[in-house]
Amino acid sequence: MSIPRPIRKAVFPVAGMGTRFLPATKSIPKEMLPIVDQPLIQYAVEEALEAGLETLIFITSGRKHTISDHFDSDFELETKLTHSGKTDLLGRIKDIVPDRVDRVYVTQTEALGLGHAILCAESVIGNEPFAILLADDMVKNDGPGALSQMIGVYEQTGSSVIGVEEVPPERTSSYGIVGVQEDEAGHKSVQTMVEKPRPEDAPSNLGVIGRYVLDGSVFRYLRTIGKGSGGEIQLTDGIAAMLQDHPVLALPLEGERYDCGSRHGFIEATIKYAMDHDDIRDDMLDHMAGLLESHGRI
Ligand code: G1P
Repeated sequence: MSIPRPIRKAVFPVAGMGTRFLPATKSIPKEMLPIVDQPLIQYAVEEALEAGLETLIFITSGRKHTISDHFDSDFELETKLTHSGKTDLLGRIKDIVPDRVDRVYVTQTEALGLGHAILCAESVIGNEPFAILLADDMVKNDGPGALSQMIGVYEQTGSSVIGVEEVPPERTSSYGIVGVQEDEAGHKSVQTMVEKPRPEDAPSNLGVIGRYVLDGSVFRYLRTIGKGSGGEIQLTDGIAAMLQDHPVLALPLEGERYDCGSRHGFIEATIKYAMDHDDIRDDMLDHMAGLLESHGRI
């Protein structure tokens, strides 16, 4: 195997309507909702930076500028924090994205689906391999982040890699589901991929979570597949079409996954991430113990 080309670019689709969080998401993308004190998109960006990526491509809907505002420097705020001696906070807002990292914003003019959003990045990526992160899926791991784990497998094998986890069989219709076969090296080689199948049609209970490392040839397939599940151009269908001439592996990710696109997953993540903050952990635990007691759970 020749040495795989490095993964340098990450795509963050952030143009979705976020209807499950309305009215909170009426004027801001759901990716700007905060878990404790930083927005979902910033956790995803940190995961990409940890994995060594150098170009961040945000696929936005034209009317929302909050994502680019968040990643731009804010001279007025920095000056204010400097004058008030709030150096910790100053450090936190200045270090959001290091200067060496490029940010590119591409507007998705029509909401035609996740596959279409990814296709909008083609002119920036060309035919290089690249990563995709859906910021509303969070994977919390003490060791390497989800994307680092996947890039490790990509570097060993040269194959595209999709992050997966086992989902309850009755929930297959909320996920892309892969059918896999174990190869000689013990990797799960993807044989089929279906977007949101009914449980009786699902090839397995391995659900795709929002992390992908893909060969650039996926664009060729995304251009031609047409509409799929929900009347949208689905990334899953583009990858399924690519399987005919490009190997794809499914990697069960180490760590706890939170579906922050749902209200209960979002709140679970908030509580879990709050435990990392020394200044609020004990108060939170006391509060939760009180809640459990008053609800007759302990
Ligand atoms: C998208 C993908 C789906 C994947 C899911 C993970 O669906 O289309 O294949 O399993 O993200 O969160 P969505 O949740 O945007 O409907």
